[in-house]
Amino acid sequence: MGDAGPARFSIDRTLTDKRLLGAALQDVASWTTWRTVLKAAFGLTLNRDEARAFAAVAGSRKPPQQRVRELWAIIGRRGGKSRMAAALAVHLACFGTHRLARGEVGAVLVLAASRDQAQTVFSYIVGFLQASPILSKEIVNITAHEITLRNGILISVHANSFRTVRGRTLVACIFDEAAFWRDEASATPDVEVYRATLPSLATTNGMLIGISTPYRKLGLLHQKHRDHFGVDSDDVLVVQGSTRRFNPTLSEQTIATQRQADQALTELHVARPAGVMERLVSPELCARGINSFTRDLPSLLTSVKLVDGDARQIWPPLRPPIAAAFAATMAEAQDRRFSADWAKNRESRDAAVRAEQQRIADWYQRATEEQEERENAEAREHFGPGHRKNSV
Ligand SMILES: Nc1ncnc2c1ncn2[C@@H]1O[C@H](COP(=O)(O)OP(=O)(O)O)[C@@H](O)[C@H]1O
Ligand SMILES: [Mg+2]
Repeated sequence: MGDAGPARFSIDRTLTDKRLLGAALQDVASWTTWRTVLKAAFGLTLNRDEARAFAAVAGSRKPPQQRVRELWAIIGRRGGKSRMAAALAVHLACFGTHRLARGEVGAVLVLAASRDQAQTVFSYIVGFLQASPILSKEIVNITAHEITLRNGILISVHANSFRTVRGRTLVACIFDEAAFWRDEASATPDVEVYRATLPSLATTNGMLIGISTPYRKLGLLHQKHRDHFGVDSDDVLVVQGSTRRFNPTLSEQTIATQRQADQALTELHVARPAGVMERLVSPELCARGINSFTRDLPSLLTSVKLVDGDARQIWPPLRPPIAAAFAATMAEAQDRRFSADWAKNRESRDAAVRAEQQRIADWYQRATEEQEERENAEAREHFGPGHRKNSV
C-alpha cells in the first residue's frame, strides 16, 4: 500500500482527532472543504455531500480510488494553504508508512517561496506537534529549520532551491506557493526542483503536494492544471477553488480588498506578458523577464507613491485606475524590452550561424585542396614528375 498510513490513522482521523492534528485546528467545521479534498487525495471514500463538494473543486472528475502520487491545490490567498501544508507535513511524517532501508533517514521536505514563508510554515508545523499531547512526545529535536521525530523522520522546511533537494531521501515533498518561487540562478526553479525530487520520491513511494495561489499562465502549477484538472486519475489530483470555499471564516470585505490587489497584480504579470510575450519568446525567457519584473516591483511602487502623494490609498491595495494605467505602461515597457532583447538575441544567433557556415566552408575548401595535393603527389610518384591526377 501507499503511505496513507494505517487505516486507523487516516488523514481524516488525524485532522479531526483532538489528541492529534485536531488539537491545533480546534473548530474542524470550517476546514470541511480541505478535509474532503485530502480524504479524496488519500483515496478515502467520500459520502454524498463530500462527493458533491469534491466535484465542485475538482472539475467534476471522479475521486481517486487510491492515494494519489501528486496533489496540486490551487487556492486563493489566506485559504489555509500553508496551514494545511504544515498539517500534511506532520501527518506524513508521523503516520506515513515509508519504504526506507533500515537506518535510512527519510525527510518530509517542505519548500516555500521565501525564508519568511518557510518560517510561517515551520511555525505551523511546530504548532501542530506541540498542541497535541501525543505528537509533542514524538519530537526529539528542533533546530531553526528542522524537526527530528522519534520514528527517525526529519521534517525539513526551507525556501525553495534544488540544492536543498539533492542527496536526500524524501518520503514526501510539499511545495508551498510554488507559482511564486524565484531563484537568481534559474528561470524555472519550480520545474527544476520538481525534477530533482521525483527520483527520490519514486524510491520511497513518497507523495508530492503542490499548494499555491494561482499567479501566472506559466510554470509547473499552470502545467499541472492544464494537464490534469478535471481528468479522472488515481495518480494526480488537481483541485482549484476560491479562498471562501476553502476558508469560510474570512469576511467578504477582506476578500474583496485582496481581490482588488490581486487583480492589479494579475493584470501586471499575467494578462499582457504571458499572452503577448509567450508568442514572441520562449516561456522560459518570458518567465525570466517576469522574475526580474517582480524584483523591480517594490521600487516601482515607491515611485508611484511619490507621484500620487497618498501612499495608503495605493498600496495596499493599488487603486484600480492607477493599477490599470500602471499595468498598461509596465506591460508595454516589458514588451519593448523583450522585443529588443529578442532582436539582439536573434542578431547574435544569426551572426554565429553565419560564422559557423563560413568556418565549415573554409575547412571544406582546405580539405579538398589537401586531398587533391595528396593525390597529385601519389600520381607523380607513380607516373613520374609533371603528372597530375586529372591527366591520367
Ligand atoms: N478553513 C479555515 N478555517 C479556519 N481558519 C482558517 C481556514 N483557512 C485558513 N484559516 C486561517 O487563516 C490564516 C491564514 O492561513 P494560511 O494557511 O497562512 O493561508 P495561505 O493560504 O495564505 O497560506 C491562518 O490563521 C489560518 O489558520
Ligand atoms: Mg501561505
